[in-house]
Amino acid sequence: MTGIDRILPTTATDLDDDALADDLADVPDRWVRLTMIASLDGATAHDGASGGLGDDADVRVLAAARRVADAVLVGAGTARAEGYEELALDAESVAWRRERDLPEHPVLVLVSGSLDLDPTHPMLQRAPRRPLVLTTDAAAREVDPALAAVADVVGAGEEHVEPHRAMVVLHDRDLLRIQCEGGPSLAAAMLAANVVDETCLTIASRIEGGASSRIGAIDETIAHRMRLHALLRAGDTLVVRSVRDR
Ligand SMILES: NC(=O)c1ccc[n+]([C@@H]2O[C@H](COP(=O)([O-])OP(=O)(O)OC[C@H]3O[C@@H](n4cnc5c(N)ncnc54)[C@H](OP(=O)(O)O)[C@@H]3O)[C@@H](O)[C@H]2O)c1
Repeated sequence: MTGIDRILPTTATDLDDDALADDLADVPDRWVRLTMIASLDGATAHDGASGGLGDDADVRVLAAARRVADAVLVGAGTARAEGYEELALDAESVAWRRERDLPEHPVLVLVSGSLDLDPTHPMLQRAPRRPLVLTTDAAAREVDPALAAVADVVGAGEEHVEPHRAMVVLHDRDLLRIQCEGGPSLAAAMLAANVVDETCLTIASRIEGGASSRIGAIDETIAHRMRLHALLRAGDTLVVRSVRDR
């Protein structure tokens, strides 16, 4: 396993999972972190999934980001493409959360306009905490009872899920620290709405080519300034944490 070193803001070698989590937890109470991975040439998927870009360091950073979150927010496209399962943290993460009086696991929050979600899927059926599905107001009025049995389905937008409304829904449920895992369509909406406080971007040392999307699949110009907050290195892989310059 490749060790993860912190290069900025202070140096530290071979961070363990607790140290990774402690760093990621050291943010304001209300926080939206967008955690994604890209190749050096900007690809976000290899063979249709991001897993092919990453290594064990990326897996550890993602696990640490989940450990410190109240909710994991993900687009339905990513949940389908990446084969999401129930959002259950490992024993070490659960212990870390218990020590801080946090619920044992974060809540999975799926974003879907179509509600084309299988209610028998393990990510819904076996979830340790009842998942939340954010959808359009119209779709929320006609929810399949089988889906309603395994998840709360809430309208948060007219044409599509609007990030500001989504944040209100989450905050009302005391879900304040949000770990957003994309994908590119959801990330685009979140970035355009300016609700992302931090991007936690793993840069995989690979050239991919191909037609996969950028981190935010967005046509309009946004031009937000970000500040470098922290830099991690695991072999040839970099993890760049940048925060909004508000
Ligand atoms: N590199 C990375 O870090 C990373 C991370 C995640 C995903 N990916 C890759 O990205 C690809 C998927 O890209 P994607 O853009 O399709 O991912 P996505 O944003 O997760 O999925 C798009 C789908 O999510 C729902 N959705 C997203 N934003 C919505 C909104 N504002 N309102 C309503 N519904 C919304 C819709 O679902 P419905 O169709 O149900 O309406 C939409 O079709 C896959 O290849 C995946 O492996 C890469």
